[in-house]
Amino acid sequence: MLDTAIEAARAAGQLIMEKYRQPIEVQAKGFRDLVTDVDVAAQEAIVSTIAARFPSHAILAEEGLGGLDQLGEYTWIVDPLDGTTNYAFRLPIFSVSIGLAYQGEPVLGVVYDPTRAHLFYAEAGGGAFLNGASLHVAEREKLIGTLVAFDWARGQALREKLLQVLHRVAPQVGTVRALGSAALAPCYVAAGWLDAYFHPRLSPWDAAAASVIVREAGGQATDFRGQPWALATPHLLAASSALHAKMLALIGEAMALL
Ligand code: IPD
Ligand code: CA
Ligand code: CA
Repeated sequence: MLDTAIEAARAAGQLIMEKYRQPIEVQAKGFRDLVTDVDVAAQEAIVSTIAARFPSHAILAEEGLGGLDQLGEYTWIVDPLDGTTNYAFRLPIFSVSIGLAYQGEPVLGVVYDPTRAHLFYAEAGGGAFLNGASLHVAEREKLIGTLVAFDWARGQALREKLLQVLHRVAPQVGTVRALGSAALAPCYVAAGWLDAYFHPRLSPWDAAAASVIVREAGGQATDFRGQPWALATPHLLAASSALHAKMLALIGEAMALL
């Protein structure tokens, strides 16, 4: 299954990069929510590979396939192109995310950044890796020395709330980034390049794979109350174990104030 996820992610990444310098069709599928013909083509490529190898498995994929109410014993959770806005603007920060859940629990994750040939992957209990090298979260403990990232929600009201959260977070930490790929940023936490990442409103395909990678690298993937992130969880705090409680206090308190 890991081999299949890696093969499918690489193939989708190749397709995404082939189209990167060509004209693409960009459409709005919602408020501040873009989709391109490349999202759809990458999903078709991934889904056909998985379905051919594992015909009995369920698939939940962003561009209109499956749902949280249609999980199987095994369910593949696919974001064929995470960071579509970046991709549509030709900002080279995006990824392919393929997770696998067993009885609803994420157990395997592959996140591939085709611009840098960064292949992040993990299986539950087997450790996390980047291009074959073992990953470990950072050990920095002081908030003021940290590099933290988040991503914007699309809705207006949630953005206002996020500004209040940032009002608390930004003065306490080293600095704050917003990269635009909710699948990739937690992998940077796993690699120790970021100390923490939070997102106030995401979908199962954004974080299913990354949640496994963060945990297998020794970090934590939870909601804003500290409960383990699960497929139906709408927000995410991915952090090193050294920083998780401090970030949770900052974000959780801020959310509670809202
Ligand atoms: C989006 C990106 C973005 C995040 C959004 C996601 P998409 O995914 O991960 O960083 O802020 O919430 O929906 O639509 O590009 O796959
Ligand atoms: Ca996404
Ligand atoms: Ca997507």
